Parts: sequence; C-alpha cells; structure tokens
Amino acid sequence: MNYIEQIDRNNIPQHIAIIMDGNGRWAQLRGKERAEGHQAGAATVRSLVENCVRMGVRYLTLYTFSTENWNRPAAEVAALMALLFEQIEEEIFVKNNVGFRVIGDMSLLPDKVRERLEACIARTAGNDRMTLVLALSYSAKWEITEAVRSLARKAKAGEIAVEDIDEKMISQELTTNFMPDPDLLIRTGKEVRLSNFLLWQAAYSELYFTEVLWPDFDNEQLHKAVYEYQHRQRRYGLTGEQVTNEEK
Ligand code: IPE
Ligand code: IPE
Ligand code: MG
Repeated sequence: MNYIEQIDRNNIPQHIAIIMDGNGRWAQLRGKERAEGHQAGAATVRSLVENCVRMGVRYLTLYTFSTENWNRPAAEVAALMALLFEQIEEEIFVKNNVGFRVIGDMSLLPDKVRERLEACIARTAGNDRMTLVLALSYSAKWEITEAVRSLARKAKAGEIAVEDIDEKMISQELTTNFMPDPDLLIRTGKEVRLSNFLLWQAAYSELYFTEVLWPDFDNEQLHKAVYEYQHRQRRYGLTGEQVTNEEK
C-alpha cells in the first residue's frame, strides 16, 4: 500500500512525539559498533524532519537522550554527545523555516554541546513553519518533580493559592508549556513501554508501536503511522456515537 496517497491532508497530527529506539540493535545485527547505529539514526532524523515539514506537522518532539541514558558506558555517552554536537547545524533549520527547542536538564550536558544548542535555539527563534524539540537529558519524572517544586515555592511565597492549582497550571510548569500535547506518540524498536517520556502530556495521545528499528524508520514508515492515526477514533471518554454526532 502506498500510504502517502491515502493520507488525509486535513487531519495531519499537529504534534508528533517519537521514542527513537533500536539504534544499538540495528548496529549489532550488522556486526557494527553501537555508535554506528547512532550515526545511522541521525540520518533518519534529518530526512524525517524534512518529511514532517512537508506534511504540515507543527511540532515534532524526539526522545534523543533520557536521564537514565547517563548510566550507559562512558564511551557510548561520549559518542552520543559528540554526534549531537556534530549534527546540530543551523542550515537544515534555516532552509526549512524550522524553530529548534530542547526540553530536559541541559545543565548536565557538556559545555560545548550546551553552547551550540543554545546558539541554535536563539538563532531559530523566529522560525515558525515547524518546531523541532529534542528531549535531551530528559525524563518525565524529573520534569514533574521540577514542576511540583516550582509550584510549592510559589505557594509558599504567597504568589498562588493551593486551591488555584489545576491541570492547566501544572501543564504551564512543564518544559513543554509552549506546545500542545502530542496527538501521536510513536515508539520504534519493538519495546512496548514509555521509558519515562512525556507521562503527563501523553495522557490522550494515540500510541503507535512498531518493530522497525530507528535507522530503518523511513518516510514510508512515518506515513504508515500517520495513516493508522487517522483511522483511530479519539473519544476522550465519550461514546463513539457522541463523537460521530459532534463531527457532523
Ligand atoms: C536509542 O537506541 C537511542 C538512545 C537511547 C540514545 P538504543 O541505543 O537504545 O538502541 P537499542 O535499544 O540498544 O537497540
Ligand atoms: C528510550 O530508549 C530513550 C530514548 C530513545 C532516548 P532506551 O533504550 O533508553 O529505553 P529502555 O531503557 O530500553 O526502556
Ligand atoms: Mg534502546
């Protein structure tokens, strides 16, 4: 099936979030070093960004490095940081009018990497065709803990009343406060888990799991995921009939 022709251009997910998993296994299957899998994964990211821009996606969030990934062997962490440094080029953002953001604890990143990321964020701030968000040194439990601390500080200082804390206020405290929640959350690489990614924001995301390893996740794979997304009914607790009537 040629998915791209089947996609409804009027129902493109506004925000797609992806857990890019399977680089290491992709490399191992080929008798290569894990780092080569990460290199191949980076190439997938580049073509994916352009494809999402073309489709009209507004926000693309990529789980690039988790808080837990700091516990990997030092050589692999170093290789990932070096790759990140090398891959952040403004050219692709400028060419496609894409804004760049990072969510996560950037203070833990090597200075050189953080400076390059910050420069790229600043220089692409006015780009508005799509926003590419890298989740780096990110975990949902870290983010929620930070939000709770911040709200507690504000309550203690008398800036807010405890009774005023609602879902909207909590969302505003999260690192993702500049964008809507993901409509579609994709995980590649066979595992069926969230691994501490966007736990609050994915409350009503459509989940899509595929066995395809990240370096093999090509445009056709993305179109397939979007096609499947378009064939789900997002009910938000209502009955199917209620939703169908609302659409009329
Ligand atoms: C995902 O691929 C990339 C990162 C977590 C940085 P993995 O490196 O986890 O690949 P597998 O799961 O070992 O195959
Ligand atoms: C999740 O992948 C994190 C990223 C893709 C950056 P992992 O490979 O770290 O996840 P687990 O540990 O297998 O759940
Ligand atoms: Mg993995």
